[in-house]
Amino acid sequence: METAPTKDAGFRTKRQMEKAKELPSASDALPKYGGHGYVPTAEDDEEPFVERISHLVLGVTDVDRAEHWYNDVMGMDVLGRGLMADTRPHSVMRMNSGCLLVLVEGKDIVPRRPGTNAVHHAFNMTPNQYRRLQEKIEEYKIDAWVDRAQFLAQGEYNLNFRDPDDHALEVCCDTPEASELILPNVGILDCGPASQYNVGDVKLLKDADVYLIRLKEGFLAMSRWCTHMNGRIIWNREHWRFQCPYHHATFDRRGNHTGGQPDLDALRLYSVGFGPDGHVLIDTSQVTQRACFEPDQCVQPDRALVGAGA
Ligand code: FES
Repeated sequence: METAPTKDAGFRTKRQMEKAKELPSASDALPKYGGHGYVPTAEDDEEPFVERISHLVLGVTDVDRAEHWYNDVMGMDVLGRGLMADTRPHSVMRMNSGCLLVLVEGKDIVPRRPGTNAVHHAFNMTPNQYRRLQEKIEEYKIDAWVDRAQFLAQGEYNLNFRDPDDHALEVCCDTPEASELILPNVGILDCGPASQYNVGDVKLLKDADVYLIRLKEGFLAMSRWCTHMNGRIIWNREHWRFQCPYHHATFDRRGNHTGGQPDLDALRLYSVGFGPDGHVLIDTSQVTQRACFEPDQCVQPDRALVGAGA
């Protein structure tokens, strides 16, 4: 049960305080939206439940120090002091997205549960903001490390550190490298006689990061780089699917995205052809992007190598 507001609850005017006293004192008595006559449509109901974070409140032992730190190191704007209904000294900071960070001064700050990093606050930065943060981390001699090093895909950057009050922070940054087309550029790969491949075979050509797959429709040569953020996928023979160890995307043998992340394109293709000796040849000099598998992407063993998607 909530308690009724008291005189010193941070109200600036008598009217504000009187109005607050009229509010329900228990959460189950809160008025429901729609009391003014608006009837929600079916489309309204399709909207996701949460738009974005409005504000994050952090307890700090010294609001001056914390305000300076979040402004100079993290690049947040100082909106002002005492802007919220809180009688304790506090500073309101603003991120580029409009989300607010409220630093409230207090004596007994418990920044995180001892011995765990389970409670931490993560922020997104652009590549330029991230570069600037790295400089500030050096300047302030902040102890920083990467908790998720083994899960970082190509172009994904991540840093963990603590603020002056020991709040655990994480900063994430996705750069254009995450979506660039990676070409192995090792020329034409000779994968041996086509006759040695059975329907269902999946062969990794490790040096080129290419998978050669023999389907009943023909051969496919697929790029090993995940279409989410250029993580290196692996073939899981037991589960008959490709898996990306970075953020758990999965793809079937035809390269179609099957789960783990929302709405990814199928794995990219290299062109396949056949030499006069019946060997399977893969041209690694160009790569074709595709939304999903189509049977005509497969190449039957009577086709010479003439270019991607041919
Ligand atoms: S890189 Fe994110 S799921 Fe593959």
